Amino acid sequence: MSNWTDVAAEADLFEGAGIAVTPQGRDIALFKLEDGVYAIDNLCSHGNARLCDGFVEGHQVECPFHQALFDVRDGSVTCGPAAEPVRSWPVKIEGGRVFLDL
Ligand code: FES
Repeated sequence: MSNWTDVAAEADLFEGAGIAVTPQGRDIALFKLEDGVYAIDNLCSHGNARLCDGFVEGHQVECPFHQALFDVRDGSVTCGPAAEPVRSWPVKIEGGRVFLDL
């Protein structure tokens, strides 16, 4: 069953940067890229770093602590030292709002 939850205004997002949202007590990072908006868990799987603060290049975000790379489309690790993926969340945009299926 889907649970679409309004988490942000599309206007709050800037291409190539992340923002944090905290629906239902979760910590999730949203990224706006050229081809869409993506959502992954904000906490790095390697340590206590927030991916919303990371540098974005292409479809990857770089952890600000030890520079692991995650693909924002599916949360997979594309470069260590992180070994575990982070969870990704389905996103839809409707009426200028960003919804996540939590
Ligand atoms: Fe993210 Fe170490 S805390 S790579």
